[in-house]
Order: sequence, then structure tokens, then C-alpha cells
Amino acid sequence: MRKLDFRLDIDNLYLRLLEEKDIPELLKLYQDNWAFLQPWEPYRPESFFTSDNFRYMVQADQAATCADEAYAFGLFLADSDRLIGRYRLSWVMRGCAETCNLGYFLAEAYNGRGYSTRAVKRIIRFAFEELGLHRVFAATMINNIASQRVLEKAGFRREGTALRFLKINNRWEDHCMFAITTEDLPQ
Ligand SMILES: CC(C)(COP(=O)(O)OP(=O)(O)OC[C@H]1O[C@@H](n2cnc3c(N)ncnc32)[C@H](O)[C@@H]1OP(=O)(O)O)[C@@H](O)C(=O)NCCC(=O)NCCS
Repeated sequence: MRKLDFRLDIDNLYLRLLEEKDIPELLKLYQDNWAFLQPWEPYRPESFFTSDNFRYMVQADQAATCADEAYAFGLFLADSDRLIGRYRLSWVMRGCAETCNLGYFLAEAYNGRGYSTRAVKRIIRFAFEELGLHRVFAATMINNIASQRVLEKAGFRREGTALRFLKINNRWEDHCMFAITTEDLPQ
């Protein structure tokens, strides 16, 4: 089985798989940034914001990683080991697809510094080089311009619109679909 305690360094940042020891910080990250994240997230009842639920989520992601179904990374500041975002590969499909979905968020206070673009570029390399996938796709709401910019800067192409693709805040929202394949990376 793949070792799970590796770290992907990106200058003053690094990505590593989230673990149970991260649960308090991850919960606080969501709580502190909820007003910022809410427009782009599924409806979350109050029971979402509990240690028990976050333990369940982290354990479910760890099981999904062992099953090669999902990889949930925290983004950390290298100098303080502070958790500032989550970047997650999910819906891994093998066989003739070799594809997965990418989702992410970054704490509001660290926005606008290019951190997400760098994290996304690094995680794509991980998906292609370490996981051997061929395609990574991502979906953003039509009005999520910041997320669309991140994907464009990381080399994704806009592929079209998926109508009523995800239920965000209790509403089925149309999404812009983006993707990148191994052929798109510089050789
Ligand atoms: C989307 C998100 C991850 C971006 O993180 P980030 O680290 O600030 O992104 P970067 O700094 O790498 O790049 C952001 C780009 O969007 C641009 N941008 C940000 N807000 C914008 C806006 N309202 N209109 C136009 N461009 C905008 C920035 O100028 C930058 O582009 P530039 O480098 O060409 O100037 C972060 O805002 C976030 O977590 N948002 C809430 C959750 C979310 O939307 N997740 C994605 C769901 S698909």
C-alpha cells in the first residue's frame, strides 16, 4: 500500500493528507471562514460543525484514500504548520477513465496571493505522476470567477456548462466544467 505520510512541498507551503490530529484545526478553519465559504458549499446543518462529524469526515477520507477513491490534502504554511486550506481529489475512477474530481477552499485571510494556483498545480502533478491518472476535472459555479481563474492559471481548459450539476445551498446550480489531461502539461 502507498505510504500516506508524504508531504508535497511548494516553497513556503506544503500539502499533506489530513489526519485525525488535524480535526480541531480543520473544524476551526471551517467555522472561522463559514461566511466566506457558504455561497459555494452544500447546505450544512448545525450538526456539520462538530468534532464528531469532522472525525467521521477525516476517517471516511482516510478509508477512501486506502481504497484509492479520494485524497484529501490540507494546505499548510511551512514556517508554522498552520492549516489554511483543503484541496481534495475525489471520485477517482480507474479503468478506461483514469480520472478524478478536484475541489478546494482557502482561508479568506490568505486569498489573493496565488496560493491556490500553486497548490492546484502541485496536486495535478501528484494526480498524474503519483496516482497515474490521465484527467483531472473541476466544476465551479458560473459566478465563481476566482475559482475559474485558479483553474485557468493552473492550465485547465473550460469544457462547457453542466446544468444543475451540484446542489449548493439547497439549489441545483449550473456549473462551468474544467479539465486538464496529461497531454496538456509541458513535456
Ligand atoms: C477560489 C479560491 C480557492 C481562490 O484562492 P486564492 O488562493 O485566492 O487564488 P489565487 O490567488 O491563486 O488566484 C485567484 C485569482 O482570482 C482572481 N479573483 C479573485 N476574486 C475575483 C473576482 N471577484 N473577480 C475576478 N477575479 C477574481 C484573482 O485576482 C486571481 O487572479 P489573477 O492572479 O489573475 O489576478 C478561494 O477564493 C476560495 O477558497 N473561495 C471559496 C471556496 C471556493 O470557491 N472554492 C472553489 C469551489 S469550485
